[in-house]
Amino acid sequence: MRKQVILLPGDGVGREIMEGAKAVLNAIASEYNHEFIVHEHAIGGDAIDRYDTPLPEDTVKACKNADAILLGAVGGPKWDGMPAGKRPEKGLLGIRKSLGLFANLRPVQGFGPLVHASPLKTELVDGCDILIVRELTGGLYFGKPSGRSADGEEVVDTLRYTRSEIERIVEKGFEAARMRSGKLTSVDKANVLESSRMWREVVDEKAKDYPDVTVEHQLVDSAAMKLITNPKQFDVIVTENLFGDILSDEASVLTGSLGMLPSASLRTDGVGLYEPVHGSAPDIAGEGIVNPLGMILSTAMMLKYSFGMEEEAAEIERAVTECLEDGYHTRDLDVKGGKVVGTDEMVKRIIDNLSTKSISNAICSS
Ligand code: NAD
Ligand code: IPM
Ligand code: MN
Repeated sequence: MRKQVILLPGDGVGREIMEGAKAVLNAIASEYNHEFIVHEHAIGGDAIDRYDTPLPEDTVKACKNADAILLGAVGGPKWDGMPAGKRPEKGLLGIRKSLGLFANLRPVQGFGPLVHASPLKTELVDGCDILIVRELTGGLYFGKPSGRSADGEEVVDTLRYTRSEIERIVEKGFEAARMRSGKLTSVDKANVLESSRMWREVVDEKAKDYPDVTVEHQLVDSAAMKLITNPKQFDVIVTENLFGDILSDEASVLTGSLGMLPSASLRTDGVGLYEPVHGSAPDIAGEGIVNPLGMILSTAMMLKYSFGMEEEAAEIERAVTECLEDGYHTRDLDVKGGKVVGTDEMVKRIIDNLSTKSISNAICSS
């Protein structure tokens, strides 16, 4: 297969993990005879520095014409003082919005060898497998008005959703639950927010179309508590933009590190954007120690969801698992008795695991 992939490395560790994604894509291309035509474009602080905008027109155009997009991370202290419209994060929000990527899938799946890496009790996290379905192009992130009064003494952010925006993401939640264990937890703040009350209404209406799915509503504050005290009660969680942002970082604790979580940002059809859940990690950027696995697993999600390459995606996941089983991990993972390696070595070991399979295949078929 021949596919056009746009790479948006962005800022901080985003650039380091993108090197890992590229290396893995190359290895998959030669193993399976695919051609990935990659082009790099600017976004975030890097784009502000080079083009004076966090999201150049050229980047948007390239993304619209691509088969899929890989994104590292944006942001960093260098740009924290910038005005709202010129922050790196605005570039990320802009690309999500202009491509209409309203459905953000964030799988939270523990890897066996990392079961002791979580600060939570082993029996709580062992076997955890949650999918957070986060609304990505609405809510507080995009509602107008938003800003500061002329005298600087008043601020406003607006939480706005239309019924159809809620319907389409709730449907994604039900569809995902139907494909998994048949349980959907909708998380809201319906005891306070009107938007959450409409959210609940929509979920109850849609539930009639999915009699095979068991639905439960939870309020976000206690859901946050249950996520780390009894995580196995969750299968698919569907929630609005900001709640999904916060709950996914929290849920990453189950896997041992925020650096482990991948994500896919999708719409009903067309291009998808794939990025790790974590940010540009300015505290460790440039040290060569960032965990590349969230990015590499996002690359696997791209192969699976955008290109239908199920086998190739599974192959990457297997190579990651083997690497962890062999005891190799980056410094963010607290694994007793393992061997701490840097980013490049971690990537190299994963690629070695990929090619081991292709060599043994070749031997088998000869
Ligand atoms: P962060 O996710 O960048 O980092 C939080 C903590 O987790 C840090 O201690 C960091 O070192 C660690 N960490 C994160 N990813 C890691 C990895 N792969 N390997 C090892 N350790 C890892 O969040 P933050 O510090 O709150 O934000 C930093 C910047 O990133 C901000 O400018 C923020 O806006 C931006 N951000 C961007 C994205 C994105 O581009 N998708 C996501 C979140 C935050
Ligand atoms: C994420 C990030 C972004 C978000 C920021 C950087 C805009 O935290 O992808 O989780 O809040 O969506
Ligand atoms: Mn986030």
